Amino acid sequence: MMPAETTDIKLYLDKLKGVTDALLVRYLPREDEEPQLLHRAMRYSVMAGGKRLRPILAYAAYEYCGGSLQEETPVVYPAMAALEFVHTYSLIHDDLPCMDDDDLRRGIPTCHKKFGEAVAVLAGDALHDIAFELMASTGLPQAVTELATAIGTEGMLGGQMADIEAEGRKVSREDVINIHRRKTGALIRCSVRVGALLADADEAALQRLSAYGEKIGLAFQIIDDILDVEGDQELMGKKVGSDSRKQKATYPEAVGIETAYADANKLIREAITVFDEYEDNVLKLLAAYIGQRKS
Ligand code: IPE
Ligand code: IPE
Ligand code: MG
Ligand code: MG
Ligand code: MG
Repeated sequence: MMPAETTDIKLYLDKLKGVTDALLVRYLPREDEEPQLLHRAMRYSVMAGGKRLRPILAYAAYEYCGGSLQEETPVVYPAMAALEFVHTYSLIHDDLPCMDDDDLRRGIPTCHKKFGEAVAVLAGDALHDIAFELMASTGLPQAVTELATAIGTEGMLGGQMADIEAEGRKVSREDVINIHRRKTGALIRCSVRVGALLADADEAALQRLSAYGEKIGLAFQIIDDILDVEGDQELMGKKVGSDSRKQKATYPEAVGIETAYADANKLIREAITVFDEYEDNVLKLLAAYIGQRKS
């Protein structure tokens, strides 16, 4: 695929979502192969849709850092699929009755509602496993380590643990930032970094992109919390009000909705100013899109 020439972010998102969907279909195990039920459950949740934001960020960072797109399967492609598989695994487990207990995801019943809890647990586990196989296939050990660190107890799982422990408690802004950076921010930052690493980015670019990823990652979860209060269930494909029902430690709960908006907007502006003022690039547009998203 050629580098993006368009500045129209909607077109870019549509195009990259198509590329990502095709990769996911390619890398998912076949439904007619044993164990069929498990393979069906994996495909059900992965192919239900989703914005594919993490793979798109990895691609955009790779492209920004001059990664080669000449090959039929550029090295960033398996990494993109890996990031989406890990993300979908986290959603399947996040929705389980023992976690957030949600019934609707990506516009359809959650994996455990459709296949039962045991199958949902295994489908999540299996997606996690394929993800590491794919990340390893890039031939870059650092990409594998980055993913493991981002989703382990320092990152996503640590954040999920803190999220569960904070249920029903009054939390400060600092507490929520700490949860959100880990449960959601770490994988988003990792997506950007992996794209850059696979493009063999220099240290300066890597540092800039890390700062960018950290800011959009935190903003992304603040906006997720806002949308749980003010969003449209149809657009989001998941139920609104789920956080208040579970007495979750959310950003609006900690600081109020107005400050939540203000802080998210500030983070988006800061992410954009990581790049030169006059530079026109897709990562800036992606940050702005995240700031304005409704789904
Ligand atoms: C939802 O992620 C879970 C969070 C980390 C907030 P997304 O909003 O990226 O969900 P999909 O992939 O588009 O369904
Ligand atoms: C999800 O956060 C974070 C992970 C899945 C790691 P939420 O629990 O807020 O996500 P949604 O709102 O269910 O999508
Ligand atoms: Mg959750
Ligand atoms: Mg949830
Ligand atoms: Mg949420």
